[in-house]
Amino acid sequence: MEKIVEEISQSIKKQAGDNPVLLLISGGVDSTVTAAILLKALKPEQVHLMYMDTGLMRKNETEFVRTNLEKLGAKNLHIIMCENEFLQALKGKDDPEEKRKVIGDLFIEIQGREALRLGLPENYMLAQGTIYTDVIESGQGVKKSYIKGHHNVASPLVDAKRKAGKIIEPFARFYKDDVRKLGLYLGVDETVINRHPFPGPGLAVRILSEVTKEKCDILREADAIFSEELKNRRSPAGKTLYDEIWQAFPVLLSIRSVGVASRSPADKEVPHKDIVHNAVIYNEDTHNDEVYNERKYGWVLALRAITSTDGITANVYPLEIRDLLEISKRITSSVKEIGRVTYDISSKPPATIEWE
Ligand code: XMP
Repeated sequence: MEKIVEEISQSIKKQAGDNPVLLLISGGVDSTVTAAILLKALKPEQVHLMYMDTGLMRKNETEFVRTNLEKLGAKNLHIIMCENEFLQALKGKDDPEEKRKVIGDLFIEIQGREALRLGLPENYMLAQGTIYTDVIESGQGVKKSYIKGHHNVASPLVDAKRKAGKIIEPFARFYKDDVRKLGLYLGVDETVINRHPFPGPGLAVRILSEVTKEKCDILREADAIFSEELKNRRSPAGKTLYDEIWQAFPVLLSIRSVGVASRSPADKEVPHKDIVHNAVIYNEDTHNDEVYNERKYGWVLALRAITSTDGITANVYPLEIRDLLEISKRITSSVKEIGRVTYDISSKPPATIEWE
């Protein structure tokens, strides 16, 4: 391991010289390990890390990213807050590919704009956390048939830097597992190393139809609960369910479905008859006039948990029904907008991992 790290470091030093290096950070394993090796190989002041908070990220993601990069010795961390720009651009868009394009284009626009704003000298180097599967998926190697638009590798900024020979991609020939091992060796926190993959367009591909702030907040909360529950539960083999599962996440469907909500006696004199779609109903099962149930339309959430080695094919993880029931209960009691939870039992193929 020491020898590989030394070789990669020497190669980075040779490529960068004294020039500043800008690394685009997603917060995932690949870009964080790239940050770690750059910070080890070069002077920390030479390394500029740029991360965009698009508003389509997981709960507390920006703080998580900041803490981990600072622990690795980052001195120049540029966090771009651009949630409003992304939500505005996604307004009214419900076609999956259109949403992906809007996000990809805006990423590129903000990336170019903010890189300029940093005022780095023209000869700065651009680093990326590209790994071998990204090279294949983006069609630079083996050709892949078009299923969904990915936007991870190419952009005018990246293309220009590539043409000028100013790109550093230390792991472009490495598989994910090797990057994980190197990351651990370089001191990257295990919570980063063992994270499930998260798609570039973020929660937008897990919200079917139009993306709004309210839907992102609902999904973010459900996602945090689902992950936490999987981290706190163990498989028969003794591993946490989170570690045993390759990728797990909830998807917010574009439909709402009827349900009932218990209301405490104290609430009963404030019926919500004025809210469209809602009506106060008497609970006939209990015949207890102290307990009211309120009919309401709640969002439908699908939980997905799969095993895979590379995301190209995937099998459904056979979660125990007891775990599912408890997780579902916690989600619906903590996130009141969600009225119904289902479990996706489709493998890939014929389904894909993400729903959009
Ligand atoms: P699918 O849905 O194509 O997903 O079966 C396969 C794997 O790729 C991830 N994914 C993406 N990752 N940018 C990414 O960085 C994207 O646009 C993107 N779309 C899907 C997905 O989460 C799964 O791990």
